[in-house]
Amino acid sequence: MSNQSAVQKFIASTRRLHAEESDPRKRWEKMTPLLQELLADPSVKEQSMKWPDCSQGGERAENLLFYEDPDYRFVINGLIKAPHSRTQIHDHAHNWTLYGVLDGTETIMRYERVDDRSKPDYAEIRGVSKLRAGPGEVDLVRPWEIHAEASGDERTVAIIVRAEKAGGFLQGRYDPVNKKYWQGYGPKQLPYQLK
Ligand SMILES: [Fe+2]
Repeated sequence: MSNQSAVQKFIASTRRLHAEESDPRKRWEKMTPLLQELLADPSVKEQSMKWPDCSQGGERAENLLFYEDPDYRFVINGLIKAPHSRTQIHDHAHNWTLYGVLDGTETIMRYERVDDRSKPDYAEIRGVSKLRAGPGEVDLVRPWEIHAEASGDERTVAIIVRAEKAGGFLQGRYDPVNKKYWQGYGPKQLPYQLK
């Protein structure tokens, strides 16, 4: 199977699911096996060896932008982390996200908010889970869920599917040490042509 057909097949099945399932919660749960099928295609992994690293430093991270659907607005992103890099602790605001590991093993940290949200610029969070996710594993990140991901000794590659393109709206950021909360725009979208 050519690489294009694996991606095209994923896009077609995801479009079908958007047409058939109007409840976002159910739709995004049903999407997991579709992304798993894409992650399992050897030609996708082979192509990913050449994908460039995305910066996680600075105020805004970077994502490769592979595809944006003209009708349903979902996007397919790539996130390539150099060894020993990690995202800030953040949420995705209202956006539904499926995070699929294609190559390498990532550590996915989840947090919950424990303060009463009465003070601006202030948040207390505590860790609730820390999972190791390897190739083929998919993490469903629901709206407002607080999380971070880190690579380990190896480069990691993730394929991310989002309900809409990130970068144009504010998302939450969290500093658990100083109990700070602020908002910033999501990752810069770097268009990248899949072969
Ligand atoms: Fe995220």
